[in-house]
Amino acid sequence: MNNFNLRPLIIADYDAVYALWQQTEGMGLNDSDTREAIAAFLERNPGLSAVACDTNNQIVGAILCGHDGRRGYLHHLAVARTHRKQGIGRTLVDSCLEKLAALKIKKCNLFLFANNTEGRTFWLHQDWSAREDIVLVQKELKPDKSAPCGCSC
Ligand SMILES: CC(C)(COP(=O)(O)OP(=O)(O)OC[C@H]1O[C@@H](n2cnc3c(N)ncnc32)[C@H](O)[C@@H]1OP(=O)(O)O)[C@@H](O)C(=O)NCCC(=O)NCCS
Repeated sequence: MNNFNLRPLIIADYDAVYALWQQTEGMGLNDSDTREAIAAFLERNPGLSAVACDTNNQIVGAILCGHDGRRGYLHHLAVARTHRKQGIGRTLVDSCLEKLAALKIKKCNLFLFANNTEGRTFWLHQDWSAREDIVLVQKELKPDKSAPCGCSC
């Protein structure tokens, strides 16, 4: 029997989840991880992200999951050090993949820092493939100065 339960991540979990991410190695947090940004992500991808809670109802694992209608994306998988190697990470990932598959998404991607060797080993152990033939090409978008409030909303 599992000593943890999964449930959807809701914005009321933000403080606990953000604290977990802050304590997690290999996690890159930036201005896409503010409360407002995470609220927007959850609203755009209802019910896909998840938390794992221990028997005291404390959050000990979290994952963000979304899709763009074509590919699924996982972000910020983290399990508290005290609760690792109990199947929480795998269960969080599997729950996301089941939901994406139910939405007819055929492939799921994730981003991993090149120096996160432990994280990489975890994913490869779950039958994910590191696509060495693909390069991430990225551009930072500037806020829209024509917006009335001067921000990018
Ligand atoms: C990676 C991480 C999420 C794994 O969580 P976890 O709950 O300990 O993983 P699980 O217990 O579900 O492990 C599932 C399987 O992967 C294996 N595994 C877990 N961590 C591993 C690691 N670091 N290296 C190799 N295998 C690992 C487990 O032995 C288990 O194998 P099994 O299926 O043969 O039994 C956790 O170590 C973590 O939060 N790491 C820091 C953040 C990170 O790197 N996230 C991933 C990048 S986004």
